[in-house]
Amino acid sequence: MQTSSSQFETRAVHGGMSGVRASGSHVPAIDLSTTNPLESVETGGLSYEELAAGHDLGEGRSAVYQRLWQPGVARFEESLAGLEGTEGAVAFASGMAALTATLIATVTAGRPHVVAVRPLYGGSDHVLESGLLGTRVTWTDADGIAGAIEADTGLVIVETPANPTLELVDLRRVAVAAGDVPLLVDNTFATPVLQRPVQHGATLVLHSATKYLGGHGDVMGGIVAGDREWVERLRRVRALTGGLLHPMAAYLLHRGLRTLPVRVRAQQQTARVLAERLAGHPAVARVHYPGLPGQDPAGLLGTQLDGPGSIIALEIVGGFAAAARFTESCELVTHAVSLGGVDSLVQHPASLTHRPVAGDAKPGAGVVRISIGLEHVDDLAADLVAALDAAAQVGGVDRERGADAA
Ligand SMILES: Cc1ncc(COP(=O)(O)O)c(C=O)c1O
Repeated sequence: MQTSSSQFETRAVHGGMSGVRASGSHVPAIDLSTTNPLESVETGGLSYEELAAGHDLGEGRSAVYQRLWQPGVARFEESLAGLEGTEGAVAFASGMAALTATLIATVTAGRPHVVAVRPLYGGSDHVLESGLLGTRVTWTDADGIAGAIEADTGLVIVETPANPTLELVDLRRVAVAAGDVPLLVDNTFATPVLQRPVQHGATLVLHSATKYLGGHGDVMGGIVAGDREWVERLRRVRALTGGLLHPMAAYLLHRGLRTLPVRVRAQQQTARVLAERLAGHPAVARVHYPGLPGQDPAGLLGTQLDGPGSIIALEIVGGFAAAARFTESCELVTHAVSLGGVDSLVQHPASLTHRPVAGDAKPGAGVVRISIGLEHVDDLAADLVAALDAAAQVGGVDRERGADAA
């Protein structure tokens, strides 16, 4: 039986499974009911009221309606909360729906100002910059957080490692700077295998579950982990606005958590080797990877972050044209947006994931982002080196001198 004192790997496999064995099953059933029978008008109404207020489904109570409570979604939430070390979690239809709900909860609490550290995922940057949800954003760096906080600041947002160039943020310092203002950390890249932000002072942890938590590129979802009060606030927003996770998606995400530690560590092992190998290629101006010398000046690896992960960003010599040639020349590595799956993907952030980001905050035109999967390291190296050789022809790289002639 899994308990909160079990080791991380054990919790990953057994989290959210209570009651499954007692029901006579080995894996959870997928309950697709959109509505649930009610015992009486009175108990039905009471259940509705409890769930709409964001409370747990009480013993023997009807779940009423899928938008209020869904057992498979609750199982996924319980398991992820167990891995992040939070009191609970609330799952949504996508990472953007999860961020949207958090921002709505912030605005409706009367504190619409958000302090955010760039870089963030381009969609997060876009929703904040647009003010679409009634927020007002101040962009800053980690050192500027304390000075950027205003009387109506309701949220500080950081992402570490950050999408796409893997900058690291010192969460303890940021939490001190945020003071009483809730700190939301986008933990999509690290996953709880490598980083558990609440241990370092974060209030909320957000994931695009579409990435590592699902891990196979076949399910979209998002989740926010936090304390009981935030869980109830977020459930209330979800019940009203309806950014629900589908039960099938919840099943796949819950299953994904069971192999998460194994996948994350194996992908990271390959990424470490590739980051070093690719750094020596003359078409590479710089490899962004926290595990390389000089890329963790605050010494966060081993304290805040248990490992550098499996995303690598390369700055290709020759700018946009060479980066485009590299991306289009990859064969084993698929040219596609997204990350964190079992197969490797490559994309050009300035054209795609970070396209809406304001000019000076946009990633460089020569930057490409690679998500390393579970393929053999030698096959990946061969594909990436061949693509770099192709890029070198466009970038004007003199292979003898290893210099950029462009
Ligand atoms: C770091 C990060 N946060 C949030 C998101 C948004 O998640 P989703 O695409 O599931 O809405 C993404 C998507 O790429 C991401 O990379």
